Amino acid sequence: MLRVVVCVSGGGTNLQAIIDGVKEGSITGAELVGVISNNPGVKSLERAANAGIPAFVVRPKDFAVRDDFHKAFMDKLAELKPDLIVLAGFLVRIPEEMCKVYPGKIINIHPSLIPSFCGVGYYGLKVHEKALERGVKITGATVHFVNEGMDEGPIIDQIPVRVLEGDTPEVLQRRVMEEAEWKLLPKAIDDIANGRLVMENGRAVRKA
Ligand code: GRF
Repeated sequence: MLRVVVCVSGGGTNLQAIIDGVKEGSITGAELVGVISNNPGVKSLERAANAGIPAFVVRPKDFAVRDDFHKAFMDKLAELKPDLIVLAGFLVRIPEEMCKVYPGKIINIHPSLIPSFCGVGYYGLKVHEKALERGVKITGATVHFVNEGMDEGPIIDQIPVRVLEGDTPEVLQRRVMEEAEWKLLPKAIDDIANGRLVMENGRAVRKA
């Protein structure tokens, strides 16, 4: 069983898609061993509790310096012994050493078609605001392995989503979640858990 830890910051609809995938059997060979949130009181924690998954809050604000937060976060991860770490709407920049400690074992979901609308400053609703500002007609989501760069890791898969007349950032965000994110992330976890997908030489490689 692949031990999966999910890192979250907010609503946790992606976390829910993973929980449902494991429960309904579209994700096999994986168990959710922990959820880490940087925010207390978020719906993600409720979702974890309802699913009986141990959940923890590690909050930057509780530490005087960033390095101490990083250490606490890395210690919590180490305790959970993850085979795969899933960043599912995790809005905190991860410690640099994390990629070295868990090479090819971290994936992220980003709500645009990378390399559009990604990198520093592009997170959460902002991504959709920028897409609407630019007037693109197609956006989407990307699931990728995480490396030291910001949204720069090897792309695993992408799903395009059409932007519609009158979309607000909130409406577009919801459509991107429904049509892309909630499909991409569970599928990537299932593929990794079943040995069909690995990171090799800085690329996402599919195995027969
Ligand atoms: C998602 O759109 C994710 O891609 C982005 O933040 C949002 C988090 O949603 N980075 P949720 O917490 O999974 O509901």
